[in-house]
Amino acid sequence: MRIVDLRSDTVTQPTPAMREAMLRAQLGDDVFGEDPTVNALEERMAAQFGHEAALFCPSGTMTNQIAINVHTRPGDEVICEEGAHVYRYEGGGMMANSGCSVKHLPADRGRFTAADVVAAINDRGAAYLANSKLVVIENTVNRGGGAIWDIAETERIRSACDAHGLALHLDGARLFNAMAVDGTKPAQWGATFHSISICLSKGLGAPVGSVLTGSRELHPSSAPRAQAFRRRHAAGGHSLAAGRGRIALEHHCTA
Ligand SMILES: Cc1ncc(COP(=O)(O)O)c(C=O)c1O
Repeated sequence: MRIVDLRSDTVTQPTPAMREAMLRAQLGDDVFGEDPTVNALEERMAAQFGHEAALFCPSGTMTNQIAINVHTRPGDEVICEEGAHVYRYEGGGMMANSGCSVKHLPADRGRFTAADVVAAINDRGAAYLANSKLVVIENTVNRGGGAIWDIAETERIRSACDAHGLALHLDGARLFNAMAVDGTKPAQWGATFHSISICLSKGLGAPVGSVLTGSRELHPSSAPRAQAFRRRHAAGGHSLAAGRGRIALEHHCTA
């Protein structure tokens, strides 16, 4: 009897093509930037999203946490909704790793509006308030039952962020699912967000792996990858094989 396990998209098994890719993947030392498979995956993802660089990590929790850490300083405030994975399911990481406070927004199945964001930004002149620094959006929304965002609203949120000097991060663990439904393209999301976390291990079916892509605007003076790379190393997330991720991107997504 064949049993289909629908508890989570994280329980998928690697396909025969992924197992083959793992066997045949060219390997090298990723810390020296010498793993051709990792390099190819990162270059492909960065190009697809129109971002400057990308960083391969073992998990979506790590890519989210690195992004928050790169965008903020201790004492800054992150704006998101209460059920956001970055707040609810990452072990208090944004508070512990980055020393940030959090402001929750009212949301419809995890989705809020640009007006909600503007209303949540603290007055920069008030020294007694935390420094609003980063907005995090999740697409699809895990606790929203897979709800997808209207990209137009995220563009309005980006405009609000630009007007107030905030960064915008997308927890796109399942962004490829959203793109399969609404027909949007990676480059559109890349143009709207300063950084994007994509999980290869969710709807795309690879057993592990996530990629963080970053934009030039993130840190014009230095390569965003260099900062993220340092943080990944500090968390012990280096030296991974990316062969399965390539198969996931080539065969398991429509965007
Ligand atoms: C929306 C969202 N972001 C991030 C993650 C974290 O992914 P990982 O399990 O690879 O750390 C998950 C995991 O289910 C998720 O649902």
